[in-house]
Amino acid sequence: MLVVALDPPFGHAGGLDHRDVVKVTSPYAAAFKIGLPFLLEYGVDGIRALREKVEKPLIADFKLADIADVMISTLRKLASLKVTAVIAHGFVGAEGALRELVQEASRVGVEVIVVAAMTHRGSVVFMDKHFDEVVNMSLELGASGVVIPATRPWLVKRARELAGGRLKIYSPGIGPQGAEPGTAICMGADYEIVGRAITRAEDPGDAAKSIYLKLLEVSRKCRGSQ
Ligand code: XMP
Repeated sequence: MLVVALDPPFGHAGGLDHRDVVKVTSPYAAAFKIGLPFLLEYGVDGIRALREKVEKPLIADFKLADIADVMISTLRKLASLKVTAVIAHGFVGAEGALRELVQEASRVGVEVIVVAAMTHRGSVVFMDKHFDEVVNMSLELGASGVVIPATRPWLVKRARELAGGRLKIYSPGIGPQGAEPGTAICMGADYEIVGRAITRAEDPGDAAKSIYLKLLEVSRKCRGSQ
């Protein structure tokens, strides 16, 4: 239920090796997530090395938002690196974009997770206005999951109402962005995505453990109340 976002730098003073962070957080992580900061810091070889080392699912969060052709070539490269899932923006729509991406992803054995709303306040200006449509489109296209902000937990609840168990819900926004660990799980999310509260901690292993235990406790308490 915990996805660790591996965005450099690592450690309180930025001096930790990312491989050590992966090692100490691995017992508590259901999956790891990487994005542009990881790619720009460690390169494609760094992603390859991470993939070889980590047995857990690896989510490539490049927030794809382009025409189908460009997203598909990115997807194919990521598939060759054996990532488990890619994250794409929902606002690009289905035809000429997400529909083709999801079809090709299914062919190459990669999941697609669609961003339906974002954690920051600016998301309410455009993205949140089309929230239901993006969740419904993700369902119709056969995406594996959606990204829903833990900072607006009522959206997590709404996504669960719309999707039932047919989409996995991934929720970032824990810690520095304001949401408490467990907020989204309690509203029906499957995973909370946590970056800095773990990766920039003095002791990332301890931080991951305490967040993981909190998620376990909250999901036990909230079970039956969703
Ligand atoms: P933190 O704040 O925990 O960030 O350091 C964790 C990760 O989550 C990503 N992030 C988002 N991804 N929609 C997304 O798809 C969002 O609203 C959102 N907010 C944060 C961020 O890229 C980082 O890796």
